[in-house]
Amino acid sequence: MPSLEILIPAQQIQTRIEAMAAEMDRDYAGEPVYLIGVLKGAFIFMADLARAMKTPTRLEFIGISSYGAGTTSSGEVRVTKDLDVTVEGRHVVLVEDIVDTGLTLAYLMKLVEQRKPATLRVATLLDKPSRRVRPVKVNYTGFQIPDKFVVGYGLDYAEDYRNLRDVCVLEE
Ligand code: IMP
Repeated sequence: MPSLEILIPAQQIQTRIEAMAAEMDRDYAGEPVYLIGVLKGAFIFMADLARAMKTPTRLEFIGISSYGAGTTSSGEVRVTKDLDVTVEGRHVVLVEDIVDTGLTLAYLMKLVEQRKPATLRVATLLDKPSRRVRPVKVNYTGFQIPDKFVVGYGLDYAEDYRNLRDVCVLEE
């Protein structure tokens, strides 16, 4: 039976998101921003982040699925839902649940850059810097975590556990 251990409790997540939102509000100084959430993992983080921000935001989603199963990224990404809008000349923030090897983010940044946004930044709830294969610049990070497989608060293992309020370590 897999076991779950709380790594980041719900309250701590909310406190950190308030601080991230305040930092983003300062940086964008009232200029409107497109938040682009990466489905499915980022949807809960994006909902809380957007509501904590005072900056005028528009919420968009991009859907991707990694080729292959398992708990590690192959870096091969398939777009399952593209952006519905043009973001040319707009401030854009890609909103991720977790940056692990960085391969997915590097791919997504290239994809969004082709749409010629005025600026492009990245916000991620979690970061596993020890696992980085591709160097990627992350502008706003919620928590740096050790190299453990985590679930909850949007993150899944084979589609399970996304609705947990806390970020938990999953151990087989
Ligand atoms: P990367 O391409 O290796 O940076 O992987 C990023 C994607 O892998 C994330 O958007 C997640 O979907 C998934 N992922 C990486 N680590 C974890 C984890 O610990 N739990 C759940 N999903 C993860």
